[in-house]
Amino acid sequence: MSKEATLKLGEKEISLPIIEGTAEEKAVDVRALRSNTGFITYDEGFGNTGSCQSKITFIDGEQGILRYRGIPIEQLAEKSDFIEASYLLIHGELPTAEQRSRFSDRVRSNAFIDERMHLIFEGYPSDAHPMAILSAMINSLGCYDPHLATNNREQDFANFDEAAAMALSKVRTIAAASYRMSTGQPVIYPKRDLSYAENFLHMMFSQPYEDFEPIPEVTKALNMMLLLHADHEQNCSTSTVRMVCSGGANLFASISSGVTALWGPLHGGANMAVIQMLEEIHADGDDGSRFIEDAKSGKSGKRLMGFGHRVYKNFDPRAKIIGAACEKLLDKLGVSDPCLDIARKLEQEALADDYFIQRKLYPNVDFYSGIMMRAIGIPLNMFTVMFAIGRMPGWLANWKEVASNPKTRISRPRQIYQGSVLRDYVPVEQRG
Ligand code: SDX
Repeated sequence: MSKEATLKLGEKEISLPIIEGTAEEKAVDVRALRSNTGFITYDEGFGNTGSCQSKITFIDGEQGILRYRGIPIEQLAEKSDFIEASYLLIHGELPTAEQRSRFSDRVRSNAFIDERMHLIFEGYPSDAHPMAILSAMINSLGCYDPHLATNNREQDFANFDEAAAMALSKVRTIAAASYRMSTGQPVIYPKRDLSYAENFLHMMFSQPYEDFEPIPEVTKALNMMLLLHADHEQNCSTSTVRMVCSGGANLFASISSGVTALWGPLHGGANMAVIQMLEEIHADGDDGSRFIEDAKSGKSGKRLMGFGHRVYKNFDPRAKIIGAACEKLLDKLGVSDPCLDIARKLEQEALADDYFIQRKLYPNVDFYSGIMMRAIGIPLNMFTVMFAIGRMPGWLANWKEVASNPKTRISRPRQIYQGSVLRDYVPVEQRG
C-alpha cells in the first residue's frame, strides 16, 4: 500500500502521509492539512480520529480482541492478577518476582490517606455521590504531597512511580472511606498483610470488633473484575486524562478528570444503569421482552444499558469473561439473583433481534459486572467507583506515556463555527 494518501480539494491536490501501526491499523496523517489547504477534518465524537500513537492497549472491535501490552485479556484474566496487570500496563512488561514484590510493597505502603482528609469527608452530605467525592479526593492527594503535584512536567514525571503507587493504593482507601462515612460507620484502616482486593473488602465491610473474613472466591472475582477494567485504549475517560496531562497538569489532577469523565451513564456509569434497568424490568413483571421493544423504539429515551460499544462491533471479550465468572460466583455463593436471569434473557433476545444485529450491538463490560458487584455486596452507588479503581492503572499508564514525551503538544481540537458571524453591541434599552 502507498505510504501516502492524495486528497483532491477543488483544483488543489495534496499528499498526506499514511501512518501504520504494529497491528496494521492505518491512519491518514492530517497534521499538515490546515496549513496547506485551510481545511480541517470534522469527526464529531472522534469515532474515526486517532488522537495519539500508543503502545499500551490494543483493541480490534471487529474481532473482539483486547490485549494489554500485546497479551490477550483472556490469558491475563485466567493467569494474572490486578497488581501484576497494573505493573504490565504501567511499565510495559510483566514483572519479575522481585519487581512485583517491590511494586506490591510500594502500593501496600501507600494505603493510608492523610488523617486530615477525613475532615473533608465529614463535610459531604451523607447522600453525596461517591464519584463526586472520589474525583475531588483524588485531586486533593496532591495537596498532601505537593512535591508530586508541581505541574512541572519534568519533576512530576521524575516522581511518577511514587505518585502512581499512591494513586493506585489510595483510590481504594478513599472509596471505602466515602462508603463508611456515608453510612455513619467508623472508617476502617488498611491492614498490611492483606492483598489489594482483600484490603479493599476489609476497609469496606470489616467492623470495629470483627474483621471481615474475605471469601477466596469473592476476592478472586473482584480481583479479576478490576483486571478486566484496567485499560481500554482511548475511551472517553482515558482520552480526558491524556488531554488534561497534555496541558502540563500533574498526575492527580489528570486522574481526577478521568474519574469525572467516567461517571456518565453512557460510559462508566452504565454498570449502575444496567442494574437499575434490570430492577425496573423485574418490578414491572416484564421478562425483558417489553423493555427490548421500548429500547428499539427509543421510547422515553430507553436504551438497553450494557449493550453496544463505539469500538466493539462484535462481542466485548470482557463481557464474555465477566458473564461466566458471574454465574460461577453466584453459584458458589448460592445466590439466586433474578436480575441475572433477566440479563441472560435480554442477551438471548437481543442477539437474535434484527435491530441489535444490524447495529452490531452486543453486551459490553458493564452488562454483567453490576450483578457480580451486587453479589459481592458492593452498594449500587459504588459501582462506577469500582470501575474507577479498576481503570486506575490504565489512566496511570496513559498519563506516563504523555508525560514521558517532552515534545507533547497540548491537545487543542478545532471547530467549525456556526454562530453569528459579525454584529454590533446593542444597548439594553434597544433590545427586545
Ligand atoms: C464503556 O469506549 C470504551 O472503551 C468504553 C468502555 C471502557 O472500557 O472504557 O468500554 C466502557 O463505556 C462501555 C459502554 C457502556 N455504555 C452503555 O452500555 C450505555 C448503552 N450503550 C450506548 O449508549 C451506546 O452503545 C454507546 C454509548 C456505548 C456507544 O454509542 P455510539 O457508538 O455513539 O452509538 P450511537 O449512540 O450512535 O448508536 C448507534 C445506533 C443508534 O440507533 P440509530 O440512530 O442508528 O437508529 O445504535 C443505537 C442508537 O440508538 N443504540 C442502541 C444502544 N446503543 C446504541 N439502542 C438501544 N440500546 C443500546 N444500548
